[in-house]
Amino acid sequence: MARRPVVTIDGPAGAGKSTVSRTVAERLGFTYLDTGALYRAVALAAGDDAALAERIDAAPTTLELAGEIERRLAALALSLPLAFSDRGTRLAIGDRDVSAAIRSPEISQRASKISALPAVRAALLDQQRRIGAAGGVVAEGRDTGSVVFPDAEVKIFLTADVSERARRRAAELRARGIAAQDAAVQREIESRDARDAAREAAPLACPEGALVLDSSALPVDAVVGLVLDAVTTRQRS
Ligand code: DC
Repeated sequence: MARRPVVTIDGPAGAGKSTVSRTVAERLGFTYLDTGALYRAVALAAGDDAALAERIDAAPTTLELAGEIERRLAALALSLPLAFSDRGTRLAIGDRDVSAAIRSPEISQRASKISALPAVRAALLDQQRRIGAAGGVVAEGRDTGSVVFPDAEVKIFLTADVSERARRRAAELRARGIAAQDAAVQREIESRDARDAAREAAPLACPEGALVLDSSALPVDAVVGLVLDAVTTRQRS
């Protein structure tokens, strides 16, 4: 039997990657790999050391985290017993379910900062590749099509207007009981996008050969349909 494909879905915060990736994975019976959740889990775990978390949160640029802090965070990333469950939608560190805790705006910013550190990225790479090694995976993130799975059979770059992304992300946070205003969320998203795209290590960028989809005016179902079409086309070729 032919190897099942790897599908990568990259793009900026709030473009709808999670909903689309989960739905596509479900429809295809593939594993869903939320790579951002891994960076978020490291950011959360760093909070167990209050002094360390404070240094990360207070750092105006990631350059100030290079060196000793980067080494500590990479060691932390390697040591965490991270485990996905529930079709990739829940994440635990050991027996602590962190699925909700990793979604706060504070952790979003910290995750964006620590994900700019090459040693942290390297520490999480093997784990991501292991999950996708046998194929049949839908991976979402910023570098899944460019760095993690450069040979992925189907690559998607999903984007949307920043105001639309902010509106969706704020609604998502409110639905989870976290207070959020569109304007504040837009500022938070803009600062994360700028950092994620400007960093030297695996910056957010459209991978070569990716199908670019703009979800600003497209409902989720339509985006899911386009991704499934791309998979079918690839499987026939
Ligand atoms: O997709 P997300 O919002 O959960 O990701 C959280 C942060 O992690 C994001 O600001 C950038 C970083 N990230 C990354 O650098 N590379 C990935 N493949 C996924 C996420």
